[in-house]
Amino acid sequence: MWLKCVLVLFVFMQCVLSNSTGVSTGPKHSRVVVCYLGTWSVYRPERGSFTIEHLDPSLCTHLVYSFAGLNIQEDSIKALDPWQDLTENYGKGGYQRITALKNKYSHLKVTLAIGGWNEGSKNYSDLAASAARRGKFVRSAVEFLKKYNFDGLDLDWEFPGKRGGVPEDKLNFFLLVKELKAAFRKHNFLLTAAFGAGKDTIDLAYDVEGLAVYLDYIHMMCYDYHGAWDQRTGANAPLRSADVLNVEYTINYMLKMGAPANKLVMGLPLYGRTFILPETTSLSSSKKPMLGQEAKSVGFQGPFTRENGFMGYNEICMELKNTSSNWKQYWDSETSTPYAVADDKFITYDNERSIAEKIRFAMEKNLAGAMVWSIDTDDFRGDCMEVAVNEDAINYPLMRGINKAIINSLEDIKNTIIKEKENEINKASVVTSCSIVIAVASFVLFIFH
Ligand SMILES: *[C@@H]1O[C@H](CO)[C@@H](O)[C@H](O)[C@H]1NC(C)=O
Ligand SMILES: *[C@@H]1O[C@H](CO)[C@@H](O)[C@H](O)[C@H]1NC(C)=O
Ligand SMILES: *[C@@H]1O[C@H](CO)[C@@H](O)[C@H](O)[C@H]1NC(C)=O
Repeated sequence: MWLKCVLVLFVFMQCVLSNSTGVSTGPKHSRVVVCYLGTWSVYRPERGSFTIEHLDPSLCTHLVYSFAGLNIQEDSIKALDPWQDLTENYGKGGYQRITALKNKYSHLKVTLAIGGWNEGSKNYSDLAASAARRGKFVRSAVEFLKKYNFDGLDLDWEFPGKRGGVPEDKLNFFLLVKELKAAFRKHNFLLTAAFGAGKDTIDLAYDVEGLAVYLDYIHMMCYDYHGAWDQRTGANAPLRSADVLNVEYTINYMLKMGAPANKLVMGLPLYGRTFILPETTSLSSSKKPMLGQEAKSVGFQGPFTRENGFMGYNEICMELKNTSSNWKQYWDSETSTPYAVADDKFITYDNERSIAEKIRFAMEKNLAGAMVWSIDTDDFRGDCMEVAVNEDAINYPLMRGINKAIINSLEDIKNTIIKEKENEINKASVVTSCSIVIAVASFVLFIFH
């Protein structure tokens, strides 16, 4: 009993003292929020253009600069856009500018991602197959991270065993990760990787249990489950569904395959997928539009990202606000996905509501946290947001939504557990005696302050 009281008092004192010592510059919760930045977003037109100075590092625990590439002559990391990334030849010094954010935000880790879709798989497959080449890569990676002041490396090989890869990639990727981590340890560098979310990719590409030993975090790319390639409308990132193409399945499968929850990070798309309905469908407008209905094989573009079938949240929210087009908004409860339809245009996407539901699931599974692809397509300028009522409502609605949802979910879950516990203990006497101790302690503090 007295031990419990002393413990309560100890926690109470900690709260009082800790606030005076350090000011946290990051999210006010215990989970990771990993923010990928696609650096080519700087080339988007007008209000779509995103520079490093648009980042708000208080909303992320980790920033991931995407992407660097592989130099197959030297088996080393290379800048993919030297003018944006480096300072040489009057370059804009992206590496330096993003890592400098750590000076102001002491909580922040900044890592460099190598790979991505456009880098393909073949060159990584060849590199990983040779012990000598892996060794050379590991040594040069350490030098590269040190030189540019990064906190670690994020591997975005898409994907081992696929797209020109070979079955041996699974083992070779594991060896590459193991050898990188061995070299990173003495420099305290983080080693993370982005994993594909499909069951077929997971089975083919990853020795999950082995990789989880050496990776600090696994970033699950829980999106691109459906798109115009299906030739029917579908959720980009369904939380649940009747088949295996959904977020819950991916996360549960990874846990089952041996990924520890405290290393597993659930990815969230800050973008949607677009579709074009065939004339026949869009004309019969009396029927409610649905997920799963026929669509053309190519979706439409947004004005900033200009990629068929893809739209950033910042573009989507502007569209939906436009009163001169007739967007209607819907919610699909099976997948927990919002979608919007106007004439022959159809968008599935994520908003604060769908994100909050996903975060709730991730927190119930006790995951390490959330990741976003990518921070540059949130409404980072606040163009869609109502005139600020308070400081919280100025920009980044989805990033703020994620952090809020983490705090709320953890609080909810904690309260549920506490309630269950309370039924077991005889709390009345504890409360009484503890109140006395705290009252005395507060009095003593008050007197001697
Ligand atoms: C804790 O510290 C913050 C930042 O310095 C300050 O704004 C806040 O008022 C403090 N809270 C308490 C309870 O002292
Ligand atoms: C592999 O690297 C070479 C040389 O940098 C490059 O030309 C080629 O496009 C890369 N392969 C793929 C699939 O990207
Ligand atoms: C709103 O929609 C109309 C009709 O589709 C379009 O012409 C206009 O450019 C849009 N305005 C904005 C601000 O996107």
